[in-house]
Amino acid sequence: MATLRILGIETSCDETGIGIVEQGRHVLSNSVVSSLQQHRPYGGVIPEIAARAHVEALWEVMALALEEAQLRPEELDAIAVTQGPGLPGALHIGMAFAKGLALALERPLIPVDHLAAHLYAGQMTEPDLEPPFVGLVVSGGHTLLSVVHPDARFELLGETKDDAVGEAFDKVAKVLGLGYPGGPVIDRLAEHGRVDKKLFPRAQTKGAFDFSFSGLKTAVYQYVQRLGSAGLSAGGAPQLTEAQVADVAASFQETAVETLVAKTLKVAQRTGLRTLVIGGGVACNRRLRARFAEEAAAHKLRAVFPPPALCVDNGAMVAGLGFALLKLGRVAALSISSDPGMCLVS
Ligand code: KG4
Ligand code: ZN
Repeated sequence: MATLRILGIETSCDETGIGIVEQGRHVLSNSVVSSLQQHRPYGGVIPEIAARAHVEALWEVMALALEEAQLRPEELDAIAVTQGPGLPGALHIGMAFAKGLALALERPLIPVDHLAAHLYAGQMTEPDLEPPFVGLVVSGGHTLLSVVHPDARFELLGETKDDAVGEAFDKVAKVLGLGYPGGPVIDRLAEHGRVDKKLFPRAQTKGAFDFSFSGLKTAVYQYVQRLGSAGLSAGGAPQLTEAQVADVAASFQETAVETLVAKTLKVAQRTGLRTLVIGGGVACNRRLRARFAEEAAAHKLRAVFPPPALCVDNGAMVAGLGFALLKLGRVAALSISSDPGMCLVS
């Protein structure tokens, strides 16, 4: 069979991503432009701004992706696109763009589940990796545990009942006055902080593989209010010293990370699967990577983390999963629409 090159389009949130991947594994290019700066003043992603930014960025990002891969559009074999989940307007624009390309180039259109693509990034990272394996998705919008089966079948075992873990990082960062997005800043500051494991509670959930992070976020908020009430700023905001901020960041991060590690290990134990793939933006977190590496060594498991460029939202992971789906014949008619609420459907 000829070598297949697939172009993947990702516009579910604030990143406009287009990647070109050969045979589902070999990344030829992975261009991303983010509208992050435009959302910063609001402390979170504004859907209307994100959608407009995709319209403005898509052509440029596609030109970059083609140039980096040194390909002409006619040399592409299929167009993959994130169908969902995500912001409705943002998804809609990526889908419309993908349909236009598929129509103009007369190539198949492959709709892709964004969460499944975060997990497929593990297979792009370690070429010998084949399902079944345990999949943990940790991002700004989702936190879920799954078993990834052969033939791109995804079995959902549990998910967050309230905030996603990335959302908790972002909200805690806001409480600490660290700006948006908070994950990378907390990751950095926590390195210099002292961990107090008893400071914040690990939430109990009814479902063994479900998560809850809103209680942790509230506990951090209340702690910061108490700690800071001794030195209120002119605006009434709590004033913490640099050391206090680092300590809170470290203790919060430790609690969040331990929850993720403990539940994932429980799935491995329950299913007997020995490979774990961790994907999504929060998988960039260095403490999370270190703790999984420790536990994997202790329990003789294999923990796979894609490189950061494949963890955050990107088009290459969409193209990669698109290849697996194309082989299974999972192409769509041009009448398909985006699906903002989709969650690991197979
Ligand atoms: O997967 P992603 O790029 O977008 C979504 O699909 O949501 O994930 C974005 C999330 C944000 O909440 C961001 O704060 C978090 O990933 N994040 C991190 C780190 N880098 C990004 N969280 C913790 N530590 C990091 N180093
Ligand atoms: Zn994502």
